[in-house]
Amino acid sequence: MADYLSRWRTQNGVDLAMRLMRAEDAQRVKLALNQLSPDSRRHRYFRAVADFSDEMVTDLVVIDPLKQWAVLVVHVEKGIEIAVAGGRFVAESDITCEFSLLVDDRWQGQGVGEHILLALIGEASHRGLTKMTGYVLSENSSMIALARSMDFQVNESEEGESVKKLIRSLHRPSAGKLDRLARKVFGRGGKTTPVKAVREPPGFESEKN
Ligand SMILES: CC(C)(COP(=O)(O)OP(=O)(O)OC[C@H]1O[C@@H](n2cnc3c(N)ncnc32)[C@H](O)[C@@H]1OP(=O)(O)O)[C@@H](O)C(=O)NCCC(=O)NCCS
Repeated sequence: MADYLSRWRTQNGVDLAMRLMRAEDAQRVKLALNQLSPDSRRHRYFRAVADFSDEMVTDLVVIDPLKQWAVLVVHVEKGIEIAVAGGRFVAESDITCEFSLLVDDRWQGQGVGEHILLALIGEASHRGLTKMTGYVLSENSSMIALARSMDFQVNESEEGESVKKLIRSLHRPSAGKLDRLARKVFGRGGKTTPVKAVREPPGFESEKN
């Protein structure tokens, strides 16, 4: 039985759940990746990806628990989990980590990215990491807007004009900011409604104290 970190209902009334990524997710993740639009592929991988190989999928689903944390968002249909979105961070040092995020085209704009990013920030903070970074194509207005709404700075990157570097301190920035965000995402009043909070994403509780 899946051990869900959180479950919620989107504004459109569809139930979603988030859990840790597992190696057994390879097939469902591959299926979802191969349905992505060209824009979403380019926005995530910065190049056209015609087909997702087993090696690429393995890199996404086999996690080194010491350095990485990855979640999968699923929609359950007739008892079968269908992958909707995923997110991860990889620790690059004792203090810094890099995140990435991907939401299936049909599920974009419904608060899923926000839900995942908040969970990533919570877990990274909980692990004692103090800085989160991410790379995004300059044209990717959705990701840039989402990052700004979560207090990331949008900086120039070493990759040139076409890529921005997102940077966020994981020290508690402004009193109550994450708490408000978490209430919006995991509580009532946002685009999503929790149907069953099995537990809040790891790390979030530490932000409330
Ligand atoms: C970028 C991405 C992760 C956003 O996820 P999402 O689930 O669509 O985003 P959400 O619905 O959670 O949006 C959250 C916030 O982001 C902002 N946002 C999202 N889409 C936006 C858009 N098209 N224009 C402006 N703001 C947008 C808004 O602030 C929004 O909050 P609001 O609805 O209260 O205004 C998703 O579109 C995606 O996977 N894209 C392809 C891959 C990618 O770009 N990955 C990022 C590189 S790591």
